[in-house]
Amino acid sequence: MIGFSAVANTLHALGAVVWVGGMFFAHMALRPSVAVLDPPQRLNLWAEVFPRFFAWVWVAVITLNASGFGTVFVDFGGFASAGVYVHAMAGTGVLMSLIFAYIFFVPYRAFRARVGVSDWPAAAAAQAAIRRLVATNLVLGLVTVVLGAGGRLME
Ligand code: HEM
Repeated sequence: MIGFSAVANTLHALGAVVWVGGMFFAHMALRPSVAVLDPPQRLNLWAEVFPRFFAWVWVAVITLNASGFGTVFVDFGGFASAGVYVHAMAGTGVLMSLIFAYIFFVPYRAFRARVGVSDWPAAAAAQAAIRRLVATNLVLGLVTVVLGAGGRLME
């Protein structure tokens, strides 16, 4: 029988793969590769990449939070009976979600506006702010995957 836990766990793992894997690729492979381009070309490329990736990140943020908190309250009977690693994951997961919302509504909005008027220095500054925050979320995301995948076995 396919129950709530099977669906929630599967969606949770898919959300983690899409978001953290996407940040790993963007930060570790795409970013150093596009450094060879001139600023207008490079920033126009990011202007194509961000909306596609960020739409999937919103899907992952909603999926991870819904399935994570759903598992805690439906399967584990609340936070009081959940392990320390689940508390830690809820903390890093919510922090990552807030950092992403900030990226989306502040530097990403500035980036779009600056690319729209071909103000390359200001667009580059906004892109650098996005890069630093994505690097932070990548580290938090890898730590969260360690907590999720290994936490139960380390208690
Ligand atoms: C935002 C980033 C998050 C990432 C990358 C992440 C990652 C993971 C991974 C890789 C697993 C193990 C595989 C699986 O069960 O699907 C897991 C399990 C789990 N996560 Fe998350 N998670 C995140 C957020 C959250 C949040 C916000 C909660 C809310 C409390 C949560 C609660 C749980 C629970 C309860 C489990 C099952 C633990 C167990 O079976 O022992 N996660 N997570």
